[in-house]
Amino acid sequence: MDPRRLECLHALGLPAWAPRPGAILPGAPEAWRVPAVPAEAPAQPAVDDAAGLDWEALEARVSACTLCPLHAGRTRTVFGVGNRRADLLVIGEAPGAEEDRRGEPFVGRAGKLLDAMLLALGHDRSEVYIANVVKCRPPQNRDPRPEEAASCAPYLDRQVALLQPRVILAVGRVAAQRLLDTEAPVGRLRGRIHSYGPAETPLVVTWHPAYLLRRPEAKAEAWRDLVLAAEAAGAGR
Ligand code: URA
Repeated sequence: MDPRRLECLHALGLPAWAPRPGAILPGAPEAWRVPAVPAEAPAQPAVDDAAGLDWEALEARVSACTLCPLHAGRTRTVFGVGNRRADLLVIGEAPGAEEDRRGEPFVGRAGKLLDAMLLALGHDRSEVYIANVVKCRPPQNRDPRPEEAASCAPYLDRQVALLQPRVILAVGRVAAQRLLDTEAPVGRLRGRIHSYGPAETPLVVTWHPAYLLRRPEAKAEAWRDLVLAAEAAGAGR
């Protein structure tokens, strides 16, 4: 189009047409360039750098966290409990209703079974450390979403770094898959020793106690996994 005609249209406040963002008309002043629309940034999980925090600062950071939508539905955060010098770190999935009320992991029915399994191994729950992949309860006890687990990952990683456990026991699919960055099912991951993180901490996968409540016949396999974890802890001494 003739630039003079365009100039008249412009002076009258009339659009000639809607040019592409970033386009410049032949002969038109540079100022007429249609501003380019910034490309939408790819969705990224909100994460917090928890490196360097001590236990108290980390727990305070977690309890104030609003990085993912799970914070809106929580009664309280469920940071983790136990001996901060423990050899064994048990990592589950996420708090359920009872854990959300009490602020402590594994206190419901599944937790009672976990306690019994630990006792069979010779450990009271106060002697080990117990945490979850995510620190807030997902609604209707659904699985945590990958971006929710990603938001919480620096907190769990800092817990592992502070604790320096001899072995990690990942209970259930969500914990195992998140910690090992895999989509393989528990049945294929259990029964052997993996390694986790920069410290290459030995990691053993086992069935989630909630699964064992539904399928008690899998308890024998879970017991073998616990013995394997105990051996892996002993091997590091
Ligand atoms: N299931 C988990 O994985 N974690 C809890 O804290 C309770 C139930």
